[in-house]
Amino acid sequence: MKKRVIVQFKQGATLKKTNMLAFGVLVAVALAACAIRQPPASPADISRAQQKWPAASAAQLADGRQVVIRRCGTCHQTPDPREFTGDRWIEVVGSMAKRAHLTSEEHEAAVRYGWSLTRN
Ligand code: HEC
Repeated sequence: MKKRVIVQFKQGATLKKTNMLAFGVLVAVALAACAIRQPPASPADISRAQQKWPAASAAQLADGRQVVIRRCGTCHQTPDPREFTGDRWIEVVGSMAKRAHLTSEEHEAAVRYGWSLTRN
């Protein structure tokens, strides 16, 4: 009798492990999908952003990319900045910043990263 309980417990543990693995795979797939919609800013994108905002840096744009990937996809699909004009991107991040609870640094980084990918 005691033995059976132990076996059942072990089966439960195995099932949990399988679920965790499936969850991990789903998360990996979701993150990969985001990465395609939010490519890193290229050196050309970075210098374009620096023409508009001299203080913009590669590090800031990389931070902005993480903000967009992590914070802008919780309510809807993460937006692809390349589908926006520069002005529209600035507007959209402005209207969503409060919803995404962005700090002013996160807001600025997200604006500059996305803007660097837009083609006006
Ligand atoms: C708390 C939920 C939430 C978060 C977080 C959020 N959004 Fe939204 N977003 C919405 C809702 C709801 C709409 C539907 C339109 C509306 O109500 O304004 C929307 C609409 C949009 C649209 C379409 C609007 C249009 O006029 O075409 C874009 C683009 C967008 N969001 C971008 C973003 C970006 C960029 C971020 C991150 C800074 C973000 N969203 C974070 C809830 C959210």
